[in-house]
Amino acid sequence: MSGVVVRPARPDELAAVGELTVAAYLADGLVPDDHWYVEELRDAVDRAEHGTVLVAVGEDGGLLGTVTVVRPPSRYAEVAGEHEAELRMLAVAPGARRCGVGELLVRTAMGLARAAGAWTLALTTLTTMASARRLYERLGLHRAPERDWGDAAGYTFLVYTAPLSQEVP
Ligand SMILES: CC(C)(COP(=O)(O)OP(=O)(O)OC[C@H]1O[C@@H](n2cnc3c(N)ncnc32)[C@H](O)[C@@H]1OP(=O)(O)O)[C@@H](O)C(=O)NCCC(=O)NCCS
Repeated sequence: MSGVVVRPARPDELAAVGELTVAAYLADGLVPDDHWYVEELRDAVDRAEHGTVLVAVGEDGGLLGTVTVVRPPSRYAEVAGEHEAELRMLAVAPGARRCGVGELLVRTAMGLARAAGAWTLALTTLTTMASARRLYERLGLHRAPERDWGDAAGYTFLVYTAPLSQEVP
């Protein structure tokens, strides 16, 4: 993990950010490879127009992971309300996992949201995203079941939130 930096993505990195995001989700079987959401995961160019796309970069400059921070009225803010920021599309390259890259991305995103004045961080995840859910809980996010929602395809989306007024433990 030494030497890993998290920073906003440069425009010339966005195509690779999109491919990394798709690879991360497909590697875990989180979405069928012919699902419409795969193209949304791939479109980091559009995400960067509606939020802040962060990247984790290794010492050699290689792309290791990404997460996007959005605030309403961004169309990527699915659950965040007033005074809230939302994390979208957290992804770490399969070969870079279990080294703390995901944690560094989420911690940095929380700091960014706090600095931008958001009071609360919100995000949506799936029951199948066990690694991500452990990560969120480790960083002080809590389930907000009253805000869970579902779609016509039968997916249930689990909402987590964290107050941003305090430092992450
Ligand atoms: C969820 C995801 C981003 C986590 O990324 P990651 O970089 O592996 O995350 P971390 O390394 O911070 O933590 C993962 C695990 O590695 C462990 N770990 C961290 N550093 C470690 C180290 N140096 N040595 C050994 N283990 C380590 C953590 O304790 C954690 O363990 P746990 O899963 O048993 O709780 C990644 O698995 C992923 O891209 N998943 C697919 C996409 C996804 O689910 N996105 C969530 C959208 S809501």
